[in-house]
Amino acid sequence: MAQQQHYLWWQSGIVYQIYPRSFQDSNNDGVGDLEGIISRLDYLKWLGITAVWVSPIYPSPMADFGYDISDYCGIHPLFGTMDDFDRLLKEVHARDMKLILDLVPNHTSNEHPWFLESRSSRDNPKRDWYIWEDPNKDGSEPNNWMAVFGGTAWEWDEKTEQYYYHAFLKEQPDLNWRNPEVQKAMFDVMRFWLDKGVDGFRVDVMWHMIKDKQLRDNPPNPDYNESQSTYQKVIPAFSTDQPEVHEIVAMMRDVMDEYDERVMIGEIYLPIHQLVSYYGINNQGTHLPFNFILITLDWDAGIIKSHIDEYEGALPQGGWPNWVIGNHDKPRITSRVGDSQAKVAGMLLLTLRGTPTMYYGDELGMRDVPIPPDQIQDPQGLNMPEKDLSRDPARTPMQWDKTKNAGFTEGEPWLPLPANFKRMNVEVQRNEPYSMLTFYHRLIELRQKEQALHVGSYLPVTAKPPLLAYIREHENRRFLIILNLSHKPCVFRPEHQTYSGTVVLATDPERENSNLKGNFSLSGDEGLVMRLDQ
Ligand code: GLC
Repeated sequence: MAQQQHYLWWQSGIVYQIYPRSFQDSNNDGVGDLEGIISRLDYLKWLGITAVWVSPIYPSPMADFGYDISDYCGIHPLFGTMDDFDRLLKEVHARDMKLILDLVPNHTSNEHPWFLESRSSRDNPKRDWYIWEDPNKDGSEPNNWMAVFGGTAWEWDEKTEQYYYHAFLKEQPDLNWRNPEVQKAMFDVMRFWLDKGVDGFRVDVMWHMIKDKQLRDNPPNPDYNESQSTYQKVIPAFSTDQPEVHEIVAMMRDVMDEYDERVMIGEIYLPIHQLVSYYGINNQGTHLPFNFILITLDWDAGIIKSHIDEYEGALPQGGWPNWVIGNHDKPRITSRVGDSQAKVAGMLLLTLRGTPTMYYGDELGMRDVPIPPDQIQDPQGLNMPEKDLSRDPARTPMQWDKTKNAGFTEGEPWLPLPANFKRMNVEVQRNEPYSMLTFYHRLIELRQKEQALHVGSYLPVTAKPPLLAYIREHENRRFLIILNLSHKPCVFRPEHQTYSGTVVLATDPERENSNLKGNFSLSGDEGLVMRLDQ
């Protein structure tokens, strides 16, 4: 196989996700905004990341905090104006970074003019832009599909006496992607932003975009238990991941390919072998189908290792890997694996082969913040209160400094700050040699500097759990990464091989510059990056 020589920015670089409500407020209304992001770009540049992905900033009634869009080509006044956006894009580019927007093509807001028209009458020209169905003969819903945020996925429309389908909230009706007019409208939205110069899209719920044409019932989930979301009562075999989705993705890719070096990242929660099909035939699908292995698996070296290898093995030729460790929908990594493992997790994310996506605040070790029940805002939490599914705890304001509200706002923040923000913030950690932020900063610097770490090959190394080990190699520079995924010390005993080298980065910097050879021991929660002797 010929070695790929030229790597694009989205292959060699690092993506950083900003949840705009929570990054930086500039007008003290308690909600972050574009001006706020602009004021923090120097921090992101210092941190060393390549691209910023910003969750939705468009006009929206905010039923799902921006993922219910009422105008795809505007900016919500809460976040600023189109002039602010243009300035953001210019300032990002001026710092030699990239800007990725969130595209939400699966559904609109129920207040989007398209839906208002569609629901106005059965013979409205946009009726077929959404998924309308007659009730069954007994008046019941067309099928048993469930909504991700609780309850049924069908909403009755009194006026026109049909149900419409919504995979998420009833305020988020699903578009009918079988309709060519819908396709064209969304491709035009993409072009609107690409013409402005945005560097790509993260595409929301890509695997939901087409549903079974016959709307067949989903099979019941035999493993369902009451603590799970009601969505999991059935297996979404007919409501998601339909074969026709790949035609849609390929068409979206064609639009991306009208422009130079833009990236399309697909949000897809599927098992590895289904996930990799989204690269498309001849890699003409999405550039990066988000790989959520590190978010969804138990923190167990054996399980993670087997999935890394399965993923590497399942990738199509020329398909570029990627890794994610946190996002605005899932508990933060520190809250999943604990403070003591958080550096190990960061080292894993930033040394695996493939584009890493970081989530704002993880570089500080920010934890999920407890939200009093009467202050919960996330609809997923509110709709199924007894199940503790609120995503608010992972969406709290970025902790910048020790002033009021951690420097996020002088107003009332939309979600609370944790009690410890005076010591857990950028300003304090930047000056501490052993802080999480300093660790991330150095890790990013090393990754960006060493080709072996950003584009090098991946070679699994046999190590007994709780250790996870692998080599990254490029043009005779070889790095051995060893991670202890447990709290207890253990010994690295490589089989059939002797490795010798120098530690160039460690979770405990005191270990750096030491030369290691043969069998050696690691302390609990320790991670090492070793430059191997030739
Ligand atoms: C995606 C988003 C999530 C949103 C949902 C519906 O999963 O990441 O935040 O609620 O889609 O748009």
